[in-house]
Amino acid sequence: MKQKNSFSGQIGFVFAAAGSAVGVGNLWRFPYLAAKDGGGLFLLIYLVLVLTVGFVLLTTDIAIGRKTGKSAIYAYESMQKKWKFLGVITFLVPVLIMTYYAVIGGWILRYIVIYLTSSGKQAVADDCFTAFISSPSSVWYGLIFMLLTALIVYNGVEDGIERVSKFIMPVLLIMVIGIAIFSLTLKTTLDDGTVRTGLQGLKVYMKPDLTGITVGRFLQITLDAMSQLFFSLSVSMGIMITYGSYVKKDVDLNKAVSQIEIMDTGVAFLAGVMIIPAVFVFSGLDGMSAGPGLMFVSLPKVFYSMGTVGRVIGILFFVLAGFAALTSCISVLESITANCMELFHTERKKTTRVLSVIYLIATAVIALGYSIFYVEVALPNGSTGQLLDIMDYISNSFMMPFISLLSAILIGWIMKPSWIAEEMELNGEKFKRKKLYNVMMRYIMPVIMVILFLQSTGVLNL
Ligand code: PHE
Repeated sequence: MKQKNSFSGQIGFVFAAAGSAVGVGNLWRFPYLAAKDGGGLFLLIYLVLVLTVGFVLLTTDIAIGRKTGKSAIYAYESMQKKWKFLGVITFLVPVLIMTYYAVIGGWILRYIVIYLTSSGKQAVADDCFTAFISSPSSVWYGLIFMLLTALIVYNGVEDGIERVSKFIMPVLLIMVIGIAIFSLTLKTTLDDGTVRTGLQGLKVYMKPDLTGITVGRFLQITLDAMSQLFFSLSVSMGIMITYGSYVKKDVDLNKAVSQIEIMDTGVAFLAGVMIIPAVFVFSGLDGMSAGPGLMFVSLPKVFYSMGTVGRVIGILFFVLAGFAALTSCISVLESITANCMELFHTERKKTTRVLSVIYLIATAVIALGYSIFYVEVALPNGSTGQLLDIMDYISNSFMMPFISLLSAILIGWIMKPSWIAEEMELNGEKFKRKKLYNVMMRYIMPVIMVILFLQSTGVLNL
């Protein structure tokens, strides 16, 4: 087999990993959860979780990757032969996510096209989004997004992934900061004379809302924050193991982990500053509905209320979302590609070609899940959904807590946390939160994961 590629250095790795972490989850799910879950209270809980649970999960994945130099399947196998099954389950998460991530990327592409070719008025109609996804021709957008992703992965780690991430991430950061500042300057006067300003909206976002708080509600907010954290950091699905395996031995992993966490959390926070004040000013927060609803239905209305400048903001916002989705989608495909290369001893170009064909078909099937292959299924967590939601549920709600639980047992009790610490201190660096890591890994993570798993399977109902 050919020698594996690697990132050129710390910056290339951090941008690529942050590119994976910063995705549509940061832009639409985080602000939505913050608005729903008591504003500042959610922010505080999330921050504590990033510094504890997030830190542990991210450190573990990256250190496993670099130490073993392998992707999930063989990384787990090389730790303990019997634990190869965990590698296989982990590998299946991106395999499932890849079937639908390009579909979402395609929706974003469609909105870029709408704003580039029209004033955006068409996007304001209530059924614009549903009409689009339920038309079979929407498939093309997903396919284009899938092809674009495959093309980048085809070009390899340094020339494909790193190069694209090093361009996209700084641009994305500047755009998020720019739009966030703009959002704070917004202002409208309602018919009854009340004035609503962006700064008031910021207060709604950041002030901890403790009304009606009970132990149950607090727990539910914590679990919401936790599952958001998993999804957002792209952990427990082997992606960070693959990216970790491309990191050179002289890179300080402690710094890299902190930088990735700061970028991911920073963009999520700023997405809230971008979206919540704007929605507050123009629709008084009624528009903060969930998921696609927020991004593809509420925001276009907000952009339209801004007048001409709204079109520019609309273009910028969806380009930004497209960038975020692209670097995430790349990481999903890369992880599958790397595992397949190790599994079948094939080279990158051939592997990517085969995977592209498979996933072009999969993307088409999932996209058609809103038209030709329409199904409506009740999921164990109480929601109902189409093909895309089913894939999302299995991979994120069901498999990820399960994988983290097993991985906590493997690292905490069989390999022992010192196995990870060795890698974190490889060049004499100090693994600062070592004690925290040990306690978390051995005692706290298993408990948390069991609770999360029970909740997502509907056994525990908060
Ligand atoms: N972390 C990405 C986000 O927040 C989503 C993602 C999930 C990316 C799984 C890759 C794999 O949107």
